[in-house]
Amino acid sequence: MTLRVPSAALVLSLGWATVVGCSGGDDGNTPTSGEGGSGAHNPTGGDGGQGGQGGQGGDDAQPFDWGLPPGFPRPKVPTDNPMSTVKVELGRRLFYDQRLSGTGDFSCASCHRQELAFTDGLALSVGSTGEVHPRGSMSLANTGFISALTWANPLLDTLEEQALVPMFGEEPVELGLAGKEVELLERLAADPLYQELFPAAFPDDSDDDGPLTLKNITRAIAAFQRTILSYRSPFDRYTYGGDPTAMTPSALRGRDLFFSEQMECFHCHGGFNFSDSVTHDGSTFTEVMFHNTGLYNIGGTGAYPEGNTGLREITGLAADMGRFRAPTLRNIAVTAPYMHDGSVATLDDALDHYGSGGRTIPDGPHAGVGSDSPFKSELLLGFTLTPAERDDVKAFLESLTDDKLLTDPRLSDPWTETP
Ligand code: HEC
Ligand code: HEC
Repeated sequence: MTLRVPSAALVLSLGWATVVGCSGGDDGNTPTSGEGGSGAHNPTGGDGGQGGQGGQGGDDAQPFDWGLPPGFPRPKVPTDNPMSTVKVELGRRLFYDQRLSGTGDFSCASCHRQELAFTDGLALSVGSTGEVHPRGSMSLANTGFISALTWANPLLDTLEEQALVPMFGEEPVELGLAGKEVELLERLAADPLYQELFPAAFPDDSDDDGPLTLKNITRAIAAFQRTILSYRSPFDRYTYGGDPTAMTPSALRGRDLFFSEQMECFHCHGGFNFSDSVTHDGSTFTEVMFHNTGLYNIGGTGAYPEGNTGLREITGLAADMGRFRAPTLRNIAVTAPYMHDGSVATLDDALDHYGSGGRTIPDGPHAGVGSDSPFKSELLLGFTLTPAERDDVKAFLESLTDDKLLTDPRLSDPWTETP
């Protein structure tokens, strides 16, 4: 079993408190949680934090301005890491800083590229030392709303903790900073810009070590990531912005299919973030769900390829074979290839996979009929779409692309900006 976290101590410290529905029947039950209003055409959900409560701006009592439209939930912010504009700016610097790698030429942004909704376009990510990650990079759009980070880890629930994984993880090596903690801090401390930004971002730090610490590095990166917000797609303009022309008639028909009992997509990709593992400011219940979508059924045993078996790697439970988190479908048109291992090349292929209620791999080491998998979710029964309906569904999925996110200067590489 490979834990993609730096140490067992970290896993233990995270505890199991937020694990809900990670084993046992996630499926078959309708996700009626008040969270995201999964089933509703209006995905604003029941208790979505409304405008005004952007809060948590820290001591200065100045609420942080998320810039989100009314009715759109706000990310949940840990009390020990309040948002501030200068902290976000520091985090952006760090996110794009190649000094955050062992080789000096890699950063978070190497695998999370803004123009690809913060994915990398590869089936499997490649780390700074050339090591191939068993999984594909994930979109960071709205990552501040994710209740269990990464493809299948119920233990990883804060961005602060998650940032340690790519920095110090050794299985696989991503940024390759293990054993280089002191070097990293020295490198950053030598930069006059950081000498300014760290004290400004962490003014109350009474720690003897001063504000430039590993903990504060992860806090600043997390604060920046909470501002990677996707809310300006045609779908959003139609749904939240009151613009009836934002979506085409075809995309609207596709939306109705997506939310139909025929296709069932909304059961797992529902709510404002098109995922059933979601949390937000003011939410009273944290939802964490994992599903087996019948992507593999090696030799008819239900097996997934060795070393990439999903939730089972964490829980050790046989029934958790192949269970992964349903990722957001926001910006899905720009984040190919798809699934945890990039093994689905296009949206058409994804629709084929779901249409047949699981993927059939005819030959080779992974041969098997996914729709017959004993571990497959009961929600995946398959469906038939006419060519026109398929075009409509694709038009709907494309209406989830937030072009402004892909080019927003507030989220772009600050090191290449001309002053
Ligand atoms: C080598 C490429 C690579 C680098 C570098 C990298 N990531 Fe990732 N990132 C990934 C992959 C692959 C995953 C999925 C990991 C998994 O499921 O085990 C991921 C997942 C994530 C997630 C989870 C998103 C979600 O919705 O669950 C976050 C957040 C994240 N990365 C942030 C970062 C930050 C911050 C950095 C820099 C400190 C970083 N990444 C560096 C490849 C990378
Ligand atoms: C039973 C829950 C469930 C249902 C129903 C479901 N999905 Fe998914 N979806 C998932 C999970 C889990 C993953 C990740 C699977 C993996 O990587 O092995 C996923 C992944 C995807 C991806 C790839 C996302 C990415 O970032 O790579 C797309 C596209 C997608 N689903 C579209 C759909 C559509 C369209 C429907 C309706 C036909 C649908 N899903 C129905 C759970 C579900």
